[in-house]
Amino acid sequence: MAKRKDLSIEFCGVKCENPFFLSSSPVGSNYDMCKKALESGWGGICYKTVGYWIPQECSPRFDATRKEGTPFVGFKNMEMISDKPTEKNLEMMAKLKRDYPDKVLIASIMGENEEEWTKLAKAVTETGADIIECNFSCPQMTTHSMGSDVGTNTELVEKYSAAVRRGTHLPVLAKMTPNITTMEISARAAIKGGATGIAAINTIKSITEVDLDNFTCLPIVNGKSSISGYSGKAVKPVALRFIAQMAKDQQLKGIPISGMGGIETWEDAVEFLLVGASNLQVTTSIMQYGYRIVEDMISGMSYWMEEKGINQLSDIVGAALPNIVPAENIERDFKVYPKYDHEKCIGCGRCYISCYDGGHQAIDWDGDKRKPMLNEEKCVGCGLCWIVCPVEKCVTPDKPKFHSFGTPRDINVIAKRL
Ligand SMILES: Cc1cc2nc3c(=O)[nH]c(=O)nc-3n(C[C@H](O)[C@H](O)[C@H](O)COP(=O)(O)O)c2cc1C
Repeated sequence: MAKRKDLSIEFCGVKCENPFFLSSSPVGSNYDMCKKALESGWGGICYKTVGYWIPQECSPRFDATRKEGTPFVGFKNMEMISDKPTEKNLEMMAKLKRDYPDKVLIASIMGENEEEWTKLAKAVTETGADIIECNFSCPQMTTHSMGSDVGTNTELVEKYSAAVRRGTHLPVLAKMTPNITTMEISARAAIKGGATGIAAINTIKSITEVDLDNFTCLPIVNGKSSISGYSGKAVKPVALRFIAQMAKDQQLKGIPISGMGGIETWEDAVEFLLVGASNLQVTTSIMQYGYRIVEDMISGMSYWMEEKGINQLSDIVGAALPNIVPAENIERDFKVYPKYDHEKCIGCGRCYISCYDGGHQAIDWDGDKRKPMLNEEKCVGCGLCWIVCPVEKCVTPDKPKFHSFGTPRDINVIAKRL
């Protein structure tokens, strides 16, 4: 059996026993929860956002999108920042750091003006926190002077980052909103103001469902609802995209990134590292499955490193970035055609229907035998058939081939390029 790898990694100059942290949310909103999480193996905690403004939360406040029996694909919440008294939160943070000095504590804060940001930064620094995270990104605040309305305003991001810098010597993360086209612009503003690194993503503004009887979106709060933040597995592609773009940005080069948005498994976690995150935060999958998911994350990542011969996690941070290129740099002569394993095929016809109704009518279907046959003249190698096939390794990509446009399957070109 392979031995466990060392998963330690430095983030913002702070040594972390592993990259797995709770993200700021209900999962880390009091001492007992954080204690349980740390004892389950999480490397650190980003404590629920604290501010001097105390919200009044609504009920119910969650909804989920489901598909074909999957409990939740994405998760919608209407929560704001901590509704506990600030002093109480500060006490709990200080106690956590005292009781778990080797674990990392990120204090998430949200002020309403420069004075508050500076004052909060000072207050959480005194708790012994290791890093401060500025919440510029909650999309459902009932006050527009806070949350994602700040994060979409680069001037405020810079000003409030500078205000936090005045109140602390600690590393500062700016937590960014994805409710924006380009995150690099606000990220650069945060760094200019004095932030050390970036945390991304907070939740995406959403309407998950509209109730067909009440004509209201969900969750319904006494007949009404509002647009609010979406998280969980469904947002992972968006999170990876924003992180990769920031990690590739020349002006942000080398800036530490804490990545989050849909991390559920060790594979998800590795993907975030590969696109440039060196710290990982999680909420929704903990809300669904509990803190112990970290055990699988730790062992999965460790065995994967062993298998790949990777000695330290920092070696793979950003390793996928050189392969993420602009659309114009994609090799368009490259073609991958499908191959069909008739032994494995259950004759369901999903590949045929998808190819006919949504592709290039490149599968011939014998109604008696119920097996797909590739029509090479029509196939463009789009890959839809192996995506829709429900049987593992039944429809698979064949050996890639290169050919020039206009001369499909030109064997000489293929031979030259393979
Ligand atoms: C119920 C709930 C409450 C949240 N509260 C906060 C918060 O107080 N501060 C914050 O920065 N982010 C908050 N978030 C956002 C998460 O920290 C995280 O950025 C987001 O959910 C994406 O990660 P995930 O897909 O692992 O949940 C909250 C998310 C959820 C689901």
